[in-house]
Amino acid sequence: MKIIVFFSGSGTNLKSIIDGQTKYDYEVIAAFTNNPQAGGIEFCHQHKIKLKIINHKNYQDREIFDQKIHAFLEEMSPDFVILAGFMRILGDSIISNWEGQIINIHPSLLPKYPGLNTHKRALDSGDKVHGTTIHYVTSELDCGPIIRQEQINIEPNDDENTLMERIKKIENLIYPEEISKLKI
Ligand code: GRF
Repeated sequence: MKIIVFFSGSGTNLKSIIDGQTKYDYEVIAAFTNNPQAGGIEFCHQHKIKLKIINHKNYQDREIFDQKIHAFLEEMSPDFVILAGFMRILGDSIISNWEGQIINIHPSLLPKYPGLNTHKRALDSGDKVHGTTIHYVTSELDCGPIIRQEQINIEPNDDENTLMERIKKIENLIYPEEISKLKI
């Protein structure tokens, strides 16, 4: 199974997915980022992963940004597109062209807290549990069919950072595993 990983930030999930190739039966044929400063870029170079960078800031017209992404996907022809901390919303044309083939990981127990600042929102709401969700991407943000969820307890002294770190550790374990189970 051939996958492309999309990322925008520190890239811990990207790293775990790349490392997961030694354990699971999938191949990372490329990575893509919209952020030329993204932490995961160096890791791609070290592991000789083909990397495409398209800085969204260079495209005022988001249609053209989306067209560039679409052209890259057409060229690479992956079985699945794996969003791993990718912080741009993909346009409807990409989502419909790749329906059923785009997967995301979102740091909340969806349907709770779609969108941003999930850890803060869980804390502010006084939630006792929090977690992460792997799901298919549809045109409605963070609403696609759920593949897997994992839950953690929120402890009294937790803050946004401790929650983020604990959740990322779980994500780094479960994302490669769930990717390996996807059926083409
Ligand atoms: C993860 O918590 C993921 O759920 C969310 O963004 C974060 C990305 O972290 N979508 P990293 O860049 O993989 O470290």
